[in-house]
Amino acid sequence: MILVLDFGGQYAQLIARRVREARVYSELIPHDTPVEEIERRRPEGIILSGGPNSVYEEGAPRVDPRLLDLDVPILGICYGMQLMALMLDGEVGAVQIREYGRSDLLVKDHDGLFAGTPDEQKAWTSHGDAVFSPPEGFSVTAETPSVPIIAFEEPEAGRFGVQFHPEVRHTEYGMEILKNFLYEACGCRPEWTPVNIITDAVEKIRAQVGDAKAICGLSGGVDSATAAMLVHRAIGDNLTCVFVDHGLLRQNEAEQVVEAFGENSDVPLIHVDARGRFLDKLGGVTDPEAKRKIIGEEFIRTFEAEAGRIEDARFLVQGTLYSDVIESGTRSAAKIKSHHNVGGLPEVMDLDLVEPLRNLFKDEVRVVAAELGMPDRMVWRQPFPGPGLAIRVIGDVTAERLEILRKADFVLQDEIRSAGLYRELWQSFAVLPAIHSVGVMGDARTYAYPVVIRAVTSDDAMTADWARLPYDLLERISNRIINEVPGVNRVALDVTSKPPGTIEWE
Ligand code: XMP
Repeated sequence: MILVLDFGGQYAQLIARRVREARVYSELIPHDTPVEEIERRRPEGIILSGGPNSVYEEGAPRVDPRLLDLDVPILGICYGMQLMALMLDGEVGAVQIREYGRSDLLVKDHDGLFAGTPDEQKAWTSHGDAVFSPPEGFSVTAETPSVPIIAFEEPEAGRFGVQFHPEVRHTEYGMEILKNFLYEACGCRPEWTPVNIITDAVEKIRAQVGDAKAICGLSGGVDSATAAMLVHRAIGDNLTCVFVDHGLLRQNEAEQVVEAFGENSDVPLIHVDARGRFLDKLGGVTDPEAKRKIIGEEFIRTFEAEAGRIEDARFLVQGTLYSDVIESGTRSAAKIKSHHNVGGLPEVMDLDLVEPLRNLFKDEVRVVAAELGMPDRMVWRQPFPGPGLAIRVIGDVTAERLEILRKADFVLQDEIRSAGLYRELWQSFAVLPAIHSVGVMGDARTYAYPVVIRAVTSDDAMTADWARLPYDLLERISNRIINEVPGVNRVALDVTSKPPGTIEWE
């Protein structure tokens, strides 16, 4: 296991991901994690990430000097390298010409980190400071035209530093360099494979839950489905899944969840048809926040009623991902009385959490899901908001308007999938505004709804760009929606990025 100490660099999370891509388990931890705790975790190697500060700045993050006394190989990246230099009495200063972007590396030593890579290579740099003189015992292993010490190492002591970013794809041999650190310097083996992840998760769940019973709310998305499958593998029928169909799902979505979990699998599934209840509550409500609140509350009430019938349930399974953990800064699973994903379960439930995906990134969850035999269409499902179509039917949410949107959305998905673009897009969906426009069909006047197409690319939903869908694809989508969906006579395309727009319309 490799621990990545986070100094706040924009690529810190990426380092952990790349290490995992090299099939070595790694975790990102705060830079001020006590040395005793780091030692207790017994990492095979430590990576110090980059960071936005200069090492000389007041308040710049530091580490306990005892870290460097540990008998564990350490790789410092960018700020991490400078910090290592400073702590070992090297010299760090501001460079005259700042390097941002691609730099030409000249490698002078191929014995350590650069083994198997060429003399000249491109590397991604982003720094204003650099090491001016290396600590005693260190040799300089690479330079750039403007920075004489772009990498150094002391292989005997297992200390390595690179001023560039091996974790960034633009660094030509970044993965080789990381692998040299992992496999050669740290002696790690590439054993973090999907099969091992599953075996490991199943063992941990068994140890946590024992003979007790657990419940899991299924949303239709890949995360909760994967969590449920892992827990089912671990404790069998002591897991009951609850799937609340609130009637705000896309076409065939409820059937797909039931198919993946219901009769065809042996996971006990309670399928609650709450469509009528939700629609009643939403009647006449047009304010987006009011809709969200009603749906959240109703969801909790429905879930609670079903969960209350499962005797002795002591655990609640959640599909929390590693990115959520990093973002919230939470370090250990807490006993909860509320379920934030669904808006806060009632206090009386008093359940312990089981979060088998807590250490996984989304792409790793998908690999695990596929390995568990989940159908492709579930594995690769685009994110879908909890309040569902209610926040894509603008204004009044009625059965009739939901049906129009569902049909239009189905056509859109069908065409996007046929064009081979489904996985490339972060999300693609249809929106039904609360307006009518005039059209002409079959020589007659129409006065019907427009449908808006929204397709975006994104890495994390924090920012997004509108997708440049090919014109011929847009033409097919438009023709089919107007021909196949009664009540629609016009198709428009949303060309707004986020910011200033949000991905959803409400
Ligand atoms: P916005 O519209 O804020 O959405 O750009 C960002 C991402 O979050 C999803 N989204 C939600 N997901 N419950 C969820 O589970 C919600 O209430 C919710 N609202 C938005 C949205 O689909 C996008 O991926």
